[in-house]
This record gives sequence, structure tokens and C-alpha cells, in this order.
Amino acid sequence: MNDIFSAIQASAKRIKEAIDVKDIGYSQQENSSGETQLELDIKSDMIIEEEFSKVASIHTIASEEKTHQELLHEDGKYYIAYDPLDGSSLVDVNLSVGSIFGIYEGGFGADKMVAACYVVYGPRVEMVFAHNKVKLYLLQAGDFEFVKEIHLNNKGKLMAPGGTQQNWPPYHKVMIDNFFAQGYRLRYSGGMVPDLHQILLKGGGLFSYPATSDKPDGKLRRLFEVFPFAFVYEKAGGEAVNGTEPLLSLGFAHVHDTSPCFFGSKKEVSVVKEVYSQNV
Ligand code: F6P
Repeated sequence: MNDIFSAIQASAKRIKEAIDVKDIGYSQQENSSGETQLELDIKSDMIIEEEFSKVASIHTIASEEKTHQELLHEDGKYYIAYDPLDGSSLVDVNLSVGSIFGIYEGGFGADKMVAACYVVYGPRVEMVFAHNKVKLYLLQAGDFEFVKEIHLNNKGKLMAPGGTQQNWPPYHKVMIDNFFAQGYRLRYSGGMVPDLHQILLKGGGLFSYPATSDKPDGKLRRLFEVFPFAFVYEKAGGEAVNGTEPLLSLGFAHVHDTSPCFFGSKKEVSVVKEVYSQNV
């Protein structure tokens, strides 16, 4: 696992440089989710692939930017699904973006997840690595330094409600309105990594991306986004569900499958489960 940790660190430093200097124009290509790829998405994907190719323990990679999985080392045991630059369209308005990694052993699937990691590129570059514990690292003078372990409070104060409100199910809107009526504060940038990072570091709350009328299976991708953050939140003492079921109990049929998702402190997620079990 140490070699993977180092490869992610090496990738993060190179992606940070690319963000700082690269022209962020649109490419002519679309990714598997039908989004037009930015040059920066492609560049970040290439950097990660290059760094992972040097790690013999990695068997196969699947990238949000690639249609198919790619075999790297026949004898490796780890399968890594990654989103090289999540929220990359926020770079041109100078908001934070991130890379997300799900590390699976023996094949892809929530039940095979052994670690998860994400990197936030903001005013500072931070990395969160979840294995047995959830640890925060900060890039300082060219190296990632350990900062602290992360633990979620039982109840938080922040609310990050994703998706277009007019397409939310009515009971979801009532639930979110009720949270705000209790004093929760809105914190939503439109970048999954910084939005979930903020809730984690500020002690808790709820990030939601529900099933909507235009996206009945949600928007966020299971292997690249949903399972890794579910793993991080659970290891930090929170919970992650699709409404009624733990996200980490879900399967997947295709590497680009999506799921409605809710990540948060235990208190907020218990409200989600109550509301959804009565309505779905
Ligand atoms: O991966 C897609 C993404 O950009 C996430 O980073 C983010 O949480 C979400 O989409 C935002 O979606 P919306 O604009 O629909 O709320």
C-alpha cells in the first residue's frame, strides 16, 4: 500500500503543477459520462496512469476519463478506480478541485475496497488517506506532511445539497428545508471533493446528491466517487447511504454506474434513512 500512497503523492504534485500552468481549454473529446473533457482532465489522467504504471502491486486501473479498464500488472493485487480531476470545470473560476481514488483488492466492488484517498487542490494542496484510520496530509515545501487524524462529530452544522432543486423528489426538498429550518448552514461549491472535505474537517453535516427526475440513478459515479467517499466517511465515524442502504453494500454493473448518495455524520444520516424508508 505504501507504494500506492507514494504514487498518489507523486501524481498530486504533478497535477498541481499542471493546474498552475496548463491552458485549461476544452478538448474535442467527451468522457464516458458525456461531459466534454478539459485538456486538464486528460493531462491529469495521463499523469496518474504514468505513476501507477510504475507500481507493480497495481493490477488494473479504471479512470473516470477512460471508457475501459486497463490492465497494468498481471501479478498485482490492487484495482484502482480514480477520478483524475473531479470538478475540473471549476478551475477556470478558481475554485478548489480534487482527485479521488478507490483502492480495491482482487477486483472492483464496494466489498473489495481496502483504502480510499482524495487530494484537494485549493489555496493549499491536502490529501486524505483512509485505510484503518483517516489521515490528513498537507503539501509543504514539496512533501506531504502528516497533519492529523480526522474524526466526524455525531452531529454537524453544514449542509451541501446537490442536484437541481426543481428535479428533487418532494420529500427530499422537505427534508433539506427542515435541516435549514434547524439552523444548518449552506456550503456547496459544486465540487464534490472540497464540499465533502469541508464537512469532514468542520466536524460534520450532510452532503447529498439524490435521485432526481432527470437523473433517476443520481449523478455521482459509484467506483470513482461514491464508494471512495463512503469509505472515508465510515472510517471517520460517519455514515454513507443511498437513502436506505449503506453505499458500501451496493454492487455495480458497469464501471461508470452512478448512485444517489448521502454522506454525513450519524445524526444527519439517520434522518435521511428515516425519511427515505418512509417514501421510497
Ligand atoms: O463529478 C461531478 C461533480 O462535478 C461533483 O464534483 C459535484 O459534486 C457535482 O458534480 C455537482 O453537480 P451539480 O452541479 O448537479 O450539483
